[in-house]
Amino acid sequence: MSSEPIAGQRQEPAELMRGVGRVLLSEEAIRQRVAEIGQQISHDYAGRNPLLVGVLKGVVFFMSDLLRAVTIPVRVDFIAISRYDPRGRVKGPVRLIKDLDDNVEGQHLVFVEDMVDTGLTLSYLLRLLRARAPASLEVCALFNKPERRLANVPIKYKGFDLPDRFVVGWGLDYREAYRHLPFVAELKPEVLGLS
Ligand code: IMP
Repeated sequence: MSSEPIAGQRQEPAELMRGVGRVLLSEEAIRQRVAEIGQQISHDYAGRNPLLVGVLKGVVFFMSDLLRAVTIPVRVDFIAISRYDPRGRVKGPVRLIKDLDDNVEGQHLVFVEDMVDTGLTLSYLLRLLRARAPASLEVCALFNKPERRLANVPIKYKGFDLPDRFVVGWGLDYREAYRHLPFVAELKPEVLGLS
């Protein structure tokens, strides 16, 4: 797929699109997969009133789509952390900036992530949540880059595997830009300063 605007889609500013490379996932493909994941979670958690937990900020796009795709009562909460260096290195230890609003002991948690890359962030957060004694804890990740995995993390609900490339759109940003793009595309190496 190319990064040319697709008929019927809105036009993004040319300056922004100059940094955007190959489109890897279309809006239609993402919406379709999120609907399937929503159905699966609704089936698996019927009668259990799960709490969906997300990490701000990128996940808000996926989370709001997922919340609309589930057909059972669910609750939602967010944590915020500081962590990521866009050139691929993790900036020191993960730091919790905002915690969950409530105690989650005895609750069914679904940890919702936009992207699992090395898995180090997820691994840290799962340890933190497990220590709070939830009744169950599963992971739902929309995007996954298996090639870069450093920590073994169990992903029960997965949207898409992606190649080892820095991608933007559908919540994924580069320095807070590109999150709003209604597709997932590679970011050109020159934008990342890698060329
Ligand atoms: P991990 O600890 O390496 O698994 O980092 C996961 C987090 O890094 C994701 O939640 C994203 O915020 C960020 N991240 C990883 N890869 C990308 C990417 O290709 N584009 C944008 N953000 C990314």
